[in-house]
Amino acid sequence: MTQTIAVIGAGTMGAGIVQHAAQSGCSVLMYDLKDEFVQRGLGNIRSALQSRVDKGKMSADEMQAILGRIVTTTKRDDAASYDLIIEAAPENIDLKREIFADLGKKASATSILATNTSSLSITSIASASPHPERVVGMHFFNPAPVMPLVEVIAASQTSSDTVESVRSIAQAMGKTPVRASDTPGFIVNRVARPFYSEALKIVGDGSARISTVDAAMDAAGFRMGPFELMDFIGIDVNFAVTQSVYSAFFGEARYRPHPIQQRMVEANTLGRKTGQGFYSYTNGNKGEPALSQTISLEHKRTVPFVPEHLTQVFLSRGGIRIPDDRPELGEIIVRILVMIINEAAYALGEGVASVRDIDIAMKLGMNYPQGPLKWADEIGLDTVHAVLKSLMASLADQRYRPAPLLWQMLRSGATGDAVGEGFHTPGEKGMV
Ligand SMILES: NC(=O)c1ccc[n+]([C@@H]2O[C@H](COP(=O)([O-])OP(=O)(O)OC[C@H]3O[C@@H](n4cnc5c(N)ncnc54)[C@H](O)[C@@H]3O)[C@@H](O)[C@H]2O)c1
Repeated sequence: MTQTIAVIGAGTMGAGIVQHAAQSGCSVLMYDLKDEFVQRGLGNIRSALQSRVDKGKMSADEMQAILGRIVTTTKRDDAASYDLIIEAAPENIDLKREIFADLGKKASATSILATNTSSLSITSIASASPHPERVVGMHFFNPAPVMPLVEVIAASQTSSDTVESVRSIAQAMGKTPVRASDTPGFIVNRVARPFYSEALKIVGDGSARISTVDAAMDAAGFRMGPFELMDFIGIDVNFAVTQSVYSAFFGEARYRPHPIQQRMVEANTLGRKTGQGFYSYTNGNKGEPALSQTISLEHKRTVPFVPEHLTQVFLSRGGIRIPDDRPELGEIIVRILVMIINEAAYALGEGVASVRDIDIAMKLGMNYPQGPLKWADEIGLDTVHAVLKSLMASLADQRYRPAPLLWQMLRSGATGDAVGEGFHTPGEKGMV
């Protein structure tokens, strides 16, 4: 690879991107405000590489060659001559706009400026630059050297040449790029919201305990249950993303944050990093759910929110088996999964990304066992729709409104694999 890359910010993401770019053969400049910050970033890169050497995954010579491709600076102007400048400074719109205004003026006439923002508007950041056509979103996932996905997001002003260049640079770096439109949460941070919010709602309405919800999603093939994952990410970080998406969609019910999460933040029980979150942690090992969280009403429902036969059809067509002695896991899986599928259908209907890119993004960005739209094809859009309707009726909450696209496909008979037409098998009736 011949590209030269400058990274603005040497924190978690910045250092990870620098490491990955240098590993893929690029000459990289790493900038931060103070030398101690740059040195901390470089130290983190060095120890990550050293651990690969110790495990026999890389030779000491390779490690030295990678480090030799990295230069550091505390002078931001040094970045101006690089082909691609990736900004990974804190998530603050004013700060990012100042960086893009300044570097947009000083960068060479062919430089591309990319932002790694998770939740801010690329269009707003681009408009600060005198050359917004060369500004783009390039959203890496944490840890950047390991996670294969990069969301490439065009601002309203971004040229197609810029998008294409960044897509091929990401590919040359060994990443899998997907295209997303400049909408709140892009693909992954939007479609993943129900994994957490429906789990919180299930616990909040007294339907199940935290450990039961996590056991359900484990049975469905997810690597971590929602509560374990929130503890891992940091409950404050997860809450901030939820709030940001909720407000960016002007209070849409599907993204409504849950008071349980707010209370956890107020109590400073933020997950692994504070030793106490939904579970308690000793020396990094997960223990029991926190006492107050184990007390669930588990109210004596005699009628399930989702009719039993629908739950059975949903699970069996979705290829999900639950242990015979844990029938209570079924409805939990159906509630969470159907909301992820619905969100993917909303995103598709609103032109956020293609069928293929939505499914790839959720598999590579979140390690989901299956793309939500592929799952919908297998389960059948008629079943997905029926589950949503019964949740809306029984829980009387607008968040369960089926996506208009689901209804349209249902009306045209494109209900998925059973009829040979669905999201992934476009036909006359299905998607294009
Ligand atoms: N952490 C994640 O999981 C993750 C994942 C994807 C995207 N992001 C996004 O990446 C960006 C960086 O996040 P992070 O987790 O690496 O944050 P971080 O706090 O670990 O690092 C931010 C770095 O930016 C530096 N900085 C502060 N002001 C600066 C300025 N004016 N110019 C240049 N550098 C400055 C800080 O010294 C720090 O080293 C954010 O926009 C975040 O939303 C984070």
